[in-house]
Amino acid sequence: MSVPIVRSVDQLRESVAAWRCEGVRIALVPTMGVLHEGHLSLVRAALEKADRVIVTLFVNPKQFNSQADLAAYPRTENEDAAKLAPVGAHLLYAPDAEEMYPAGFATTVSVCGVSEGLCGTFRPGHFDGVATVVAKLFLQTSADFGFFGEKDFQQIHLVRRMARDLDIPITIVACPTVREADGLALSSRNVRLSPAERAVAPKLSSVLLKTAERLERGSPIMPTLAESRAAILTAGYREVEYLELRDEADLQPITSLDRPARLLAAAWLGGTRLIDNVRLFRIGSTD
Ligand code: PAF
Repeated sequence: MSVPIVRSVDQLRESVAAWRCEGVRIALVPTMGVLHEGHLSLVRAALEKADRVIVTLFVNPKQFNSQADLAAYPRTENEDAAKLAPVGAHLLYAPDAEEMYPAGFATTVSVCGVSEGLCGTFRPGHFDGVATVVAKLFLQTSADFGFFGEKDFQQIHLVRRMARDLDIPITIVACPTVREADGLALSSRNVRLSPAERAVAPKLSSVLLKTAERLERGSPIMPTLAESRAAILTAGYREVEYLELRDEADLQPITSLDRPARLLAAAWLGGTRLIDNVRLFRIGSTD
């Protein structure tokens, strides 16, 4: 049995209206496809809170700042649809670009502050694209809950701010990053890694974890981060875009570990850009 697929806003709203008549709670899991265990874990988490789960599959052109990246983004809709029924998703919404952005489309949702720095610095326009499409998905589905993975930590902050600012009545639920056995964060981009790159890839998460441990033990922040950047490059990554310590609650830069923090990184392995982040638990050290 496969999950029903709808491709238009009208069809989507028909399904949602029927569910609303039953008085059920609806959850949304937005994706760009190439579904992996991380996405499926979001569906499972969504099923614990809601009675119906809509997964969306839309490779959103507005959030790619490079046409080459958009063209190279993997697309596996049939395989994706086949993975959804066994986990219990109820509907796959997979509109095309004309349905999402019909001729004349002229609106951009821009979230200041939270979309600046980190990925925002290196992917100009990316978060406007994310905020615009996610706002549309929230409004199209009128879901009660939206489920997002913590791998895209800045995105969660952005989406929360946007929903709050626009009075969209949805509860955002953040779920832990799912990892391979060797620590590599699951990502649709991992399929692009060559075998040699795949062997190097887990170094990003292992350096992040080691750095977090060192900082928690009181190692000075700036020199420790500089050493960790060098360690990522020595491991075989081509470029480290950022490796930063931020306040977990508002993503502001911090210079002392006096509150819950996140260590976030983005780095290029050959032609693939990977991001990851870890939480710091112990509080008390200063730089
Ligand atoms: O995280 C993603 O896959 C995308 O940014 C999202 C949330 C589906 C919006 O296109």
